[in-house]
Amino acid sequence: MSSVTLANITKRFGNFTAVKDLDLVIEEGEFFTFLGPSGCGKTTTLRMIAGFYYPSEGKVKFNEKDMTTVSPENRNTGMVFQNYALFPHMTVYENVAFGLKVRKKKKAEIKKRVEDVLEKVRLKPFIDRQVSQLSGGQQQRVALARALVIEPDILLLDEPLSNLDARLRDEMRNEILRLQREYGITTIYVTHDQVEALTMSDRIAVFNVGNCQQIGTPTEIYNQPVNDFVAEFIGETNLLDVEWKQDEEEFYSGGLNRRIEVTPPGPETNEGPLKMSIRPEAIQVSETELTGPNVLQERSIWFNLQEKPCIVSSQSMRVKLL
Ligand SMILES: Nc1ncnc2c1ncn2[C@@H]1O[C@H](COP(=O)(O)OP(=O)(O)OP(=O)(O)O)[C@@H](O)[C@H]1O
Ligand SMILES: [Mg+2]
Repeated sequence: MSSVTLANITKRFGNFTAVKDLDLVIEEGEFFTFLGPSGCGKTTTLRMIAGFYYPSEGKVKFNEKDMTTVSPENRNTGMVFQNYALFPHMTVYENVAFGLKVRKKKKAEIKKRVEDVLEKVRLKPFIDRQVSQLSGGQQQRVALARALVIEPDILLLDEPLSNLDARLRDEMRNEILRLQREYGITTIYVTHDQVEALTMSDRIAVFNVGNCQQIGTPTEIYNQPVNDFVAEFIGETNLLDVEWKQDEEEFYSGGLNRRIEVTPPGPETNEGPLKMSIRPEAIQVSETELTGPNVLQERSIWFNLQEKPCIVSSQSMRVKLL
């Protein structure tokens, strides 16, 4: 088991910055998820942790040990790649056994460990099948078995369930969580599926265009998004203009000139454009009059914001990388 520290890491490809100033600590045994849209730098970050890329700036540490430029085979991380990276002409057995052979384990031990892990991912019947003759979902499970069989300190999973049908996906989610808890492996999981992130993770880091926007538990990220990007990326939300009235020290709904009670703490600054984020399940809509502290009226419809809205900064969409 290891903790993982990313200390201000930046990764540039030529003059393009794929990841900028990422600073975070993943605790021992934690299930930590990188969530964000395509191209936001999730795989690049994972590859820096695995050692396939070295950061342009900053440090990667496992348990306070500097690993920044240690080669991948000396890190004891198990990785499931987004494109699996299996050996197509080898059998399932040979693919899964590979990492153990490299580590010079005895033949009998290799056989036992490979069979055990294939049982877990339900691929035992395919043990002698060539990988190129498997379906996408089966290949994905071979990749998972190959990462698990070495009993890694850190498990890195890059969208490991994207090719599975809904039912198998659900089963494999539970299986991954079970294995992770059982072995206590520090796990970093990459996905752009917010439901997966919210249901599986201890904590989530939300990325956008190479920048980490927010780190928190699923509840924190859902209930207290820091900006409009996070609010919209995690679940459904309504973003309405809001103004900060300096003299009264209160928030007013934009246009309606109605004072709004909000959930503290709000953004770090009240400067710049602000929005209030209201989840659909928090709104009561009525054609007869409603009363209460956070009731808004538009023509003959009343909206009761039953949970106080949280205030988010709306500057994130303009984040530009140098
Ligand atoms: N080897 C490379 N050379 C140049 N640019 C790269 C390289 N690898 C990644 N990039 C760029 O860096 C950015 C981040 O890529 P990355 O693969 O980390 O995205 P991602 O978040 O994993 O996306 P996806 O969800 O589509 O897998 C992208 O704009 C990508 O084009
Ligand atoms: Mg990726």
